[in-house]
Amino acid sequence: MPGEIITLQVGQCGNQVGFEFWKKLCYEHGINCDGQLEPFAEKSGIERRDVFFYESDDKHYIPRSILMDLEPRVVNSIMNSKYSKLFNNENIYISKNGGGAGNIWASGYSQGKSLSEEFFEIIEREAEGADSLDGFILCHSIAGGTGSGMGSYVLETIQDRFPKKIIQTYSVFPSQEESSDVVVEPYNSLLTLRRLTENADCVVVLDNAALFRIAVEKLHVENPNMLQTNSLVSTIMSASTSTLRYPSFMNNRLAELIVPLIPFPQLHFLMTGYTPFTTEKENHSEVTSVRKTTVMDVMRRLLDDKNMMVSTPIQTKNDNHCYISILNIIQGEADPVEVNKSLARIRESKRIPFIQWGPANIQVALSRKSPYIQTSNKVSGLLIANHTSIAHLFERIVSQYDKLRKRGAFLDRFKNEEIFSQNLDEFDNSRVVVQELIDEYNAASKSNYLELALYK
Ligand code: GTP
Repeated sequence: MPGEIITLQVGQCGNQVGFEFWKKLCYEHGINCDGQLEPFAEKSGIERRDVFFYESDDKHYIPRSILMDLEPRVVNSIMNSKYSKLFNNENIYISKNGGGAGNIWASGYSQGKSLSEEFFEIIEREAEGADSLDGFILCHSIAGGTGSGMGSYVLETIQDRFPKKIIQTYSVFPSQEESSDVVVEPYNSLLTLRRLTENADCVVVLDNAALFRIAVEKLHVENPNMLQTNSLVSTIMSASTSTLRYPSFMNNRLAELIVPLIPFPQLHFLMTGYTPFTTEKENHSEVTSVRKTTVMDVMRRLLDDKNMMVSTPIQTKNDNHCYISILNIIQGEADPVEVNKSLARIRESKRIPFIQWGPANIQVALSRKSPYIQTSNKVSGLLIANHTSIAHLFERIVSQYDKLRKRGAFLDRFKNEEIFSQNLDEFDNSRVVVQELIDEYNAASKSNYLELALYK
């Protein structure tokens, strides 16, 4: 049976992305914006709402979610929206100081540390309320100050206090193309990447550059805004949790989903792709330009680099980057015979580069779709992949960090905080950890990886 999952939303991006996710879960489970079950959803027996919601005494569904920020603006806008009654007021943590982290990881980390007893009281209460807690999902961005710095502190402490629970993150990586006024983004990203490497079990990488590109290409929006990119993220999050919420005989628990994708614990950064993307209207109907959605079409399109939520190249002529593992979650009216045939055809095709030190691990999970939402496509698919080319994304962050650090630029704003007051070891150590991560993924693209790994 699926266990419960607690979602932690930290910082502006984390709360905005998290909010879109909850809106989507509410639609999918027939829960209205006040948390009440719609009459049409009362009889359904196929879904497990209790994985992400709990039912209060007055029959309201309440998200197992904690909204945290160091400044009030975004959380207040959620609490002033029509969803104001959905969330548990006691699960909202806004620092009394209210000034945010000013885009400085070290400020977010220090404030997270000094306030941790206050918000861990909430996290622990929520965890005690679960019958069989599976784990935590953290939503945040790695480039600002709060989601990155406070998020890093939350990750470390969760791992320490709940060592047996899975920690999965949905981590938004900054876009290079997006005009950013945050010059210290590479510092923040590198420091967070260390915590994601050391303290998370699984990181779903969401790259803003790819999200903007996909919004332009697939949703046909000229200048996508955050709402539109976040709706893509919420689609990914809802599809990747669908087997937990509509359980069948497999992939019912977070660990069952994640473990087969991660052959070695350090290789736990996953990419995603989805097809077909649609824009959802408030009345639950969808606008789409889908041509044909057979299982084979969906599985083929999922393997197209253009559908990947990562902006660095998946495959180039000059490297050996390859898939380590793939999980396709197919939702909708999929005939298992058709699924098996499509899978066999894809496995036979030699075009998909896989690691040579292990079997070509392509799994398929069939999942239901929400019975309350009309979609124009019969089948949709999510690809969750472990691919060695993720190293390119980390290399880009390290190279930007190196440039900034060489100039000694903007370090004063970090030195003001306790963690950097004596020395800059935290930077140097993080640089080492991230370089090791890059080396590990590059080594995994080679045929002799197991020999290399054994010598460690
Ligand atoms: P402080 O503002 O320093 O307190 O930290 P914060 O964690 O609240 O900052 P924020 O979450 O705004 O992080 C900045 C990064 O997140 C930039 O790369 C933004 O482009 C990105 N970002 C901010 N909001 C969103 C969002 O709603 N969706 C997406 N996809 N990215 C976002």
